[in-house]
Amino acid sequence: MGHARSAVPADDRGYLPFMAGGIGAGVGVGFVLAAYVPFAAAGLLGRREDVPFLVQAHGAAQLQGWAGLFVAGMAFRLAPRLAGRRPVDARLSWATFALLASGAAGRVVGQSVPGLEQLCLPAGIAAALGMLLTVAVLGWYLLRTRRPGAWTLGFAAGAAWWAWWAAATSRSGMQLAERRYLLFPEHDPVLWTVMLGAIGNFVWAVQSRSVPTFFGRGQPSIRRFALPWAALNVGLVVVALQVFEPLRSARAEGSGLALAAAGMAGLAVMVGAFHARAHRLRPRARPAARYVAAADWCALGAAAALLWAGVHTAAAGVYADPGLRDAARHLFGVGTITMLIVGVAQLIAPIFALGRAEPRPPGLADHAAFWGLAGAAALRALVGVLTPWVAYDHRMALAGLAGVLAWYGIARFAWLALDAYRNEARMLELLARGAAH
Ligand code: HEM
Repeated sequence: MGHARSAVPADDRGYLPFMAGGIGAGVGVGFVLAAYVPFAAAGLLGRREDVPFLVQAHGAAQLQGWAGLFVAGMAFRLAPRLAGRRPVDARLSWATFALLASGAAGRVVGQSVPGLEQLCLPAGIAAALGMLLTVAVLGWYLLRTRRPGAWTLGFAAGAAWWAWWAAATSRSGMQLAERRYLLFPEHDPVLWTVMLGAIGNFVWAVQSRSVPTFFGRGQPSIRRFALPWAALNVGLVVVALQVFEPLRSARAEGSGLALAAAGMAGLAVMVGAFHARAHRLRPRARPAARYVAAADWCALGAAAALLWAGVHTAAAGVYADPGLRDAARHLFGVGTITMLIVGVAQLIAPIFALGRAEPRPPGLADHAAFWGLAGAAALRALVGVLTPWVAYDHRMALAGLAGVLAWYGIARFAWLALDAYRNEARMLELLARGAAH
């Protein structure tokens, strides 16, 4: 058994702690708060007065923990392959993981538990250092790549947004240590730039390489990719400037969001997949393709909601459509980021590939996980869209329900990952035996 496990090169396993940490943050904190916080906001359980702090802790657990750890792990795994260079040094990978994970954990605990807010300061510094290490590692591969392509643009912009995220995280660590809460005008632009810039650029870069392979299409050239990519990132720079008080303007923020949304829609159409017929995949891997298609439909929905809110805000000159913005945030967060993590991880993480060596059609629990996540994305978006018409308490009760559905989908994914990890040695033996016959 020990022999079979060692057949996988040690450096190939660097993504595992990131994946385990991301799943732990999602199942243990981010999606638990996604259900608890709205139920508490609706007065159905817990304490209403905790809600403002826990909402921000939920956002941090999802962005820094669930999405951030996954993106860093997958970027560390893919950058060397795409660049045609050797894998990331295991010590560097572990150090980055330790800083990012402890930073995310400290931030969430410090903001959630009254009296522990001082923890947010060291947590902000740890997370920022981890983010800067991520930037340095990705920068190294980008400068030394032998195979530039559309992916290089996405990775470069993504890495630049991680540097911005590092600055924002250390600053918010200081603010949280003082008052346990981040003020909206500074905090909201950071949330958009992190979600659509630091995470979003990798979403499109990775799809620009993997979707054509899975679905049998040509890869987009750098030139074609560049236009929507520039719209996304220039729009986000305008949004980022809203952090600075003298530059703050609703017209500029709205225009920035609209431009970023248009770029996102362009990228989704260019590199995404909108049907689940992935004929290049082995039959065992095909069920994962429907996650990719659902993720891209949700990205289009998010782009449409954000475009509307952005244009409206720019035209009116005042902050507009909070409900549509919330719908866009969660269509992208639950629909695109989460569905892609679950789908793409099953397609490209080697432990799942090994699991597919053994034929087992998706069971009821797998279908329920997919529909649970798809239903959660739709329901959570509806909660935002209904803002002008339905009372807050009722909307929060619906959001809590969406949180429970999403939690199930993620818990099932966590179970599959654990199962694949435990079966890895047996699968390698099976494969070796198959190859010998
Ligand atoms: C179905 C699952 C989810 C539910 C039910 C849920 C629920 C909520 C609720 C009720 C809020 C507060 C909204 C407000 O006060 O306007 C919120 C905020 C937020 N959520 Fe979610 N959420 C879910 C999944 C996600 C995911 C997967 C992500 C990211 C990957 C995410 C990121 C955020 C962010 C960034 C905020 C804003 C936090 C802040 O203001 O600091 N959520 N969510």
